Amino acid sequence: MREGDAPAIRLKGVSKRFGLGNLALADIDLEIAKGEFVFLTGPSGSGKSTLLRLLFCAERPTSGEISVDEMNIGTLSGAQIPLLRRKIGVIFQDFKLLNNYTVFENVALALEVIGLRPDQVKKRVKQVIEGVGLGTKLNRKAVQLSGGEQQRVAIARAVVNRPPIILADEPTGNLDNKRTEEVMLLMEELNARGATILFATHDERLYQNTHRRVVRLEDGKLEAAQ
Ligand SMILES: Nc1ncnc2c1ncn2[C@@H]1O[C@H](COP(=O)(O)OP(=O)(O)OP(=O)(O)O)[C@@H](O)[C@H]1O
Ligand SMILES: [Mg+2]
Repeated sequence: MREGDAPAIRLKGVSKRFGLGNLALADIDLEIAKGEFVFLTGPSGSGKSTLLRLLFCAERPTSGEISVDEMNIGTLSGAQIPLLRRKIGVIFQDFKLLNNYTVFENVALALEVIGLRPDQVKKRVKQVIEGVGLGTKLNRKAVQLSGGEQQRVAIARAVVNRPPIILADEPTGNLDNKRTEEVMLLMEELNARGATILFATHDERLYQNTHRRVVRLEDGKLEAAQ
């Protein structure tokens, strides 16, 4: 197999159990090719967020193997996790913004930690924030934004680093139709530039008319939906 043929994301026999509870994920096999855009759907509680969280080591699988961009996550040491996370932009379901930081600062942090020059940070951060329609709110604190605006900051922060893999957890959950369309276009654009995207949503309208692959979780089990 040529190196380029390796999938961006691969789960093999992956299960996850929290404490003594039921399996949140049961024996998941999933491969996502580099550059693919896949929708992950399923009802509330079916395991979408858990699956995404396993991919950036926020949770560890109970069993099974996971690789991301040819890194075997099961054998990653704590010190190697930042290396993995540099490759992944995560849009969290609950945003995880720093409330008392401004829009600019929330997004800039993601670049400062990788040691980009301040003038480059400024340029890129502004560009991305304008791209999500918040150019006039650069200096507003996150806590002073609406839910939809916070969501767009979270999206800007996830993509500013130009990560090869984007994990989006209900990134349009708080947005109206117009904003949802804008986010979908942004995702298409990022995908066209080469990013692999795994997009979790329970909103059927987002994938009804798509030619993209849709995989569905039902009670922790994976099935192809389309
Ligand atoms: N940290 C945790 N501790 C215990 N149980 C958890 C934890 N995280 C998730 N679960 C359980 O795992 C199952 C899957 O949850 P998950 O959040 O992955 O679902 P989801 O598909 O993302 O749902 P939603 O559409 O509501 O976001 C649920 O039964 C949930 O209660
Ligand atoms: Mg979820």
